[in-house]
Amino acid sequence: MDLFRTKSIEQSIRDTEDPRHRLRRSLGALDLTIFGVGVIIGTGLFVLTGRVARENAGPAVALAFIIAAVACGLAALCYAEFASTLPVAGSAYTFAYATLGEFPAWVIGWDLMLELSLAAAVVAVGWSGYAVSLLHTIGIDLPPAIAGEGGVVNVPAVLVVLLLTAVLVAGIRISARVNLIMVIIKLAVILLVLVAGVAFIDPANYRPFIPPPVHTPQVEGVSVPLIQVLFGVTPVAFGVFGVFSAAAIVFFAYIGFDVVATAAEETRNPARDLPIGIIGSLGLCTLLYVLVSLVLVGMQPYHELSEAAPLADAFRAVGMPWIASLISIGVIAGLTTVILILMLGQSRVFFAMSRDNLLPPALAEVHPRFRTPYRVTLVIGLTTAVLAGLIPLGALAELVNIGTLFAFVVVSAGVIILRRTRPDLRRTFRVPWVPVLPLLSVLSCVYLMLNLPVDTWLRFAVWMAIGVVLYWLYGSRRSRVARSENGPAAEPAGSAPEPPVRP
Ligand code: ALA
Repeated sequence: MDLFRTKSIEQSIRDTEDPRHRLRRSLGALDLTIFGVGVIIGTGLFVLTGRVARENAGPAVALAFIIAAVACGLAALCYAEFASTLPVAGSAYTFAYATLGEFPAWVIGWDLMLELSLAAAVVAVGWSGYAVSLLHTIGIDLPPAIAGEGGVVNVPAVLVVLLLTAVLVAGIRISARVNLIMVIIKLAVILLVLVAGVAFIDPANYRPFIPPPVHTPQVEGVSVPLIQVLFGVTPVAFGVFGVFSAAAIVFFAYIGFDVVATAAEETRNPARDLPIGIIGSLGLCTLLYVLVSLVLVGMQPYHELSEAAPLADAFRAVGMPWIASLISIGVIAGLTTVILILMLGQSRVFFAMSRDNLLPPALAEVHPRFRTPYRVTLVIGLTTAVLAGLIPLGALAELVNIGTLFAFVVVSAGVIILRRTRPDLRRTFRVPWVPVLPLLSVLSCVYLMLNLPVDTWLRFAVWMAIGVVLYWLYGSRRSRVARSENGPAAEPAGSAPEPPVRP
């Protein structure tokens, strides 16, 4: 068994032309940027900003956002180069198949499932929290058993996931339209926060900008960050080091720009539009994050910011409760698009893996009318609904960070490898200073991973071990690439003839 057989770039592109698996190409650069903004801005901005300012960075939370953006920016350049060279659904999974081989590709695909499904479920649970409290303000109280994380079944979370699954099955254009409306509401609320909040800034709240360091009591057991176990680094809040640990937490706020690459096969001119979508959405979100966090810590002393809803509560604190209500509506709209696009990305990765026979190929069937991979979308929607409805997810959120960072490491390393193995390929977007920038990307992602707790690493290892067993039992035996290596006779009966390579 050859674990490191690669799938050629040409073969990957040919597979997208198979009529049974062809998606509809209807997205442009602006759609992709809006997809990016839709999936990136969510819990990270609306919740973490306040918590991190309070506990880790003080007013310098804006610096933490900039540091995390630099790490993400390096990875985004690598994603952009890959996506412009290999415009095929599946993002990091497809890139890894072309460079590192089948087994690493499976590992990364399995890892993306963890990142995307879990993140969608976690955000759906957050969504239900805001929805329940908004219903409460208009006088509707759901029975506690079905009203959120503490109940038996989190019914609002299940409903939002199922509704968005239906939107995804109905078509990429409809998904893009729903996303556009929600993103406009989300951006309007953010602009409102900026414009209305500036008037309440008290410059005294910015002093000191980086509060002096405070040694936090050592956390015990499996909750300590791995870096502490390996190098004996003691955790510190505030100060310059506090700002760096804060960056590892606010990293969550940027997760999603990588999902833009999964829509490659639905993009009209992927070689040009994907780099614009990936880098453009990340740049816009960075700007908004820095501005919002500066306004927020200017409005209230950082140690008084609220844990759960810092933006809304800051406006309550300055006597503007109506703005607080508008913010809640914006957050609900904002989180809806995060769930939608995470599930969209997940379905495209799953689709690419099924098309390669690493998962059952019947799942990769495209709907005859909607031209969406409806079977994988339904499987993912139902799984995410069960996760969001039944399982308490708070503790699992950090698994999303580790999964994403791992994918970034693989993609960044993949850029260096593909430049060596296939220097001939046409790259419409090229990362400058290869191998220096991709290496810096790998190092900064590994550093952020080391800042995650030991129990997160253990859970991640368990998930990956399950993936390895599944590959051994299924994918390694059925892989399409392996079968075609063994001759055309081994291809499944009834395969469509291979269409010519797209120019
Ligand atoms: N970046 C997304 C969020 O902050 C996952 O919710």
